[in-house]
Amino acid sequence: MEIGAIIHKVKSCSSTNDLAKKMAVKGAGEGTVIIAKRQTKGRGTKGRTWYSAENKGLYASIILRPEEHSLSLIPLMAGLAVREAIFEATGIHIGLRWPNDLIWGECKLGGILCESGFKGDHPSYVILGIGLNLSHKKKEFPEAIRSISTSLKLITKKDVDREGFLQNLWKALNHWYQLFCRGQGLKIIRSFEEGSVFTKGQKIMLQSQKGHITGIYKGVDSQGGLVLEEGGKDKAYFSAEIKKLIYE
Ligand code: BTN
Repeated sequence: MEIGAIIHKVKSCSSTNDLAKKMAVKGAGEGTVIIAKRQTKGRGTKGRTWYSAENKGLYASIILRPEEHSLSLIPLMAGLAVREAIFEATGIHIGLRWPNDLIWGECKLGGILCESGFKGDHPSYVILGIGLNLSHKKKEFPEAIRSISTSLKLITKKDVDREGFLQNLWKALNHWYQLFCRGQGLKIIRSFEEGSVFTKGQKIMLQSQKGHITGIYKGVDSQGGLVLEEGGKDKAYFSAEIKKLIYE
């Protein structure tokens, strides 16, 4: 089913990802979208909260039912879709920070939270959550994240046409998700590398459960892992094993 063909709009919920998960478990079809005006318990990656004030941001979750196993490519393809939709709407190219951050300059504009449910070895659903700061003024962000957050309105100095933007987003998501389903992972990876805020050859420090690693950024591998060269050897890292990335 097409992404965006069925859209459930709610005024408020704890998290659109939680609502989408409940609907997926009850059998809602692929492509179903849930959008909330606000979230009371919006979630970010790594157990963080996602600030979700009423009508300020886009809080959307999409039910996907992929056959494909490289689920780590889903946040990358979603980042590309949001980037494309933003470009269509505003003419600006945002940056993608592996694996799920939408970046402008030094600031975070949005993020992606993918959560999946399995039946045995097979994914039965993936919830693709997208949070995008649309119309926040600087002072409207909580103080703790103010200096590292931005919104489309702050960047473009214009009001965002929400409905127009959503049309662009469904179109772009359908395009990139189809590539994913057709096994065009390499195209996703190359495009992600082009849109990445990291440049090949740059030093990246990674804090993992096992300690600190400093390596040279080499790109993204076929499974969507971040490839760093350390001591002449390439090694791919995945989001679950990383606590923090530090780079200049
Ligand atoms: C991150 O950058 O940490 C990911 C943020 C993801 C936020 C979105 S908003 C819609 C969906 N519902 C949630 O609770 N989280 C995601």
